[in-house]
Amino acid sequence: MPNRVVVGTQWGDEGKGKIVDLLTGEADIVARYSGGANAGHTVVIDDQKFVLHLVPTGILHKDKICVIGNGVVIDLEHLFFELKQLEKRKIKFEGRFLISPNAHLVMPYHLAIEKLEEEARGKGRIGSTGRGIGPAYRDKIARQGIRVIDLLDPQLFKQRVEWNLKNYDNLLRRLSRTEKNALKKKSMDLLKFRRKVEPLLTDVGFYLDRSIRKGKKVLFEGAQGALLDIDFGTYPYCTSSNTTIGGVCTGLGISPFLIDEIIGVTKAYTTRVGNGPFPTEEKAGVCETLRERGCEFGATTGRPRRCGWLDFVMLRYTFRINGISKIALTKLDVLDDFDKIRVGVGYKYKGKLITEFTPDLHTLENCIPIYEELSGWQKSTKGVTDFKHLPDKAKRYLDHIAKKLKTPISIVSTGNKRDQTIRL
Ligand code: IMP
Repeated sequence: MPNRVVVGTQWGDEGKGKIVDLLTGEADIVARYSGGANAGHTVVIDDQKFVLHLVPTGILHKDKICVIGNGVVIDLEHLFFELKQLEKRKIKFEGRFLISPNAHLVMPYHLAIEKLEEEARGKGRIGSTGRGIGPAYRDKIARQGIRVIDLLDPQLFKQRVEWNLKNYDNLLRRLSRTEKNALKKKSMDLLKFRRKVEPLLTDVGFYLDRSIRKGKKVLFEGAQGALLDIDFGTYPYCTSSNTTIGGVCTGLGISPFLIDEIIGVTKAYTTRVGNGPFPTEEKAGVCETLRERGCEFGATTGRPRRCGWLDFVMLRYTFRINGISKIALTKLDVLDDFDKIRVGVGYKYKGKLITEFTPDLHTLENCIPIYEELSGWQKSTKGVTDFKHLPDKAKRYLDHIAKKLKTPISIVSTGNKRDQTIRL
């Protein structure tokens, strides 16, 4: 197996969890490089459903090593809760779970700050997952964040907490004294994880480089989607990390030359949670059908996802930025009942035709999508495992996608279980 990256090519929730789980079978190590507990990766194994937020999905395979890189922001309470839940289900992590000492912590005050800031934004709120991601990355960039390694120096850790709380005093003034004291106590209490964390700390970049040179195979597990990237997404309606390919190198400390293949996970239609532009969004009937059939509710927040058609303007852009070499197309079966399927090929804005992505929010929010219409197959593709057994019109849909994106499809997912998959 090549050293592969799995990235989402839309606004997240493309079904990366299942694809990563599938490809983990062929890898030795699974490394997560960005995001935090805002992610929600769902995997179904033998009718058992697992939703992982921080721990790499590879943990579900008992012989694989899982790595969390410096590019991830870690909520320790959440991480150890997740690991405990896994242990309850007989999934052990001892000896096969590593964390970069440089990863930053999501502190309890980050969650409080995010809540206050989102409230203050009113209509312009981002619609974040409420996991403190934005404030944690902000502190990292402002060089006032607290890293995992800082747990090993309790004096320094406490000083940093004190200093940061003072720094945010103005923002936190809306909280009562009791609430502020509780926040401080909760933050200081994170030191209790010191002993649990210490044995997990590893120079992740060094470890991955060594392992790859010895012939081990690594799967780089992306979180969120390219259109949520802090630099290339629909800013400011995006997350606060580099979800795109560059995040692999900066989020793990490895050379780009160690990457052989970039799998772009693309859902057969489009969804988005949270606010922000979505040109091919459908409001009523089509949206509801997609949501119902595709169980389109956030894995982290349970919020109903906004749903619409595939958008080639967005996809050509995210494929270019990431250099996608193969497509993993997910949730094909969700489209089974439609008699007509639309795909967005451009936008009209102020009389002008737009065929390339624009970062201008106003255009993205007010443009009119231009569609091509394809015939639906109106037959079940659920659980199909052989391309030959797909209805002709479904084959045509896949062919159309591959042609438009000038990229071959290597995986088609026809259901949420491991074996409901076509490998090409
Ligand atoms: P944050 O990452 O919690 O700050 O949220 C910022 C935006 O990214 C919001 O619109 C979220 O709904 C969205 N978002 C963050 N993580 C995910 C994800 O894993 N899937 C889908 N959307 C996400």
